[in-house]
Amino acid sequence: MKDIKEIEEIIKSKLSEKRYYHSKCVQKRCIELAKIYNVDEEKASLVGIAHDIAKEMTKDEKLEYVRKNNIEIDEIEEKNTELLHSKIGAHIAKTQFRFTDDMVKAIENHTTGNENMDMLSKILFISDATGEDRTWEGKEEIVDLSKKDIDKAILYCIKFTVKDVLEKNRKIHLNTIKTWNYYV
Ligand SMILES: [Fe+2]
Ligand SMILES: [Fe+2]
Repeated sequence: MKDIKEIEEIIKSKLSEKRYYHSKCVQKRCIELAKIYNVDEEKASLVGIAHDIAKEMTKDEKLEYVRKNNIEIDEIEEKNTELLHSKIGAHIAKTQFRFTDDMVKAIENHTTGNENMDMLSKILFISDATGEDRTWEGKEEIVDLSKKDIDKAILYCIKFTVKDVLEKNRKIHLNTIKTWNYYV
């Protein structure tokens, strides 16, 4: 596995200042939650900083990446390529950063969630939505909730995401629904 300094430099070179700041905020929240839930802090820190590595690739770059690397994508991901940054990020984390399987999974799960996530995945999922850069109403309550009952906090975040997707008239990814059904 590459060390944290090296990875931070790579992430910095791939992302805009704003997105890099977001990643630093997610990293900070990940470490905070890792301490509470007895998860390896280094792993939490690394997935936090690296989770959005593919976020600023263009639509064409993303589609080319999945084609070249034989990554399976579904119909919803093909239409809403925004969603693909988790799969591509997970692939980069595995092949270039040599992250462990649980870390790769956490990055893959970070946008839609998934059934039966392990604690590292849950921590990244919540941290992505509740870092210091996020300002949505009610966020602070969810930050507090996530420290006591992370599953309940996940449910709340999904509710928020689904509302947003519905308002934008976009398709809901099946994993989002599965995650909802699993944790509700
Ligand atoms: Fe993301
Ligand atoms: Fe993110």
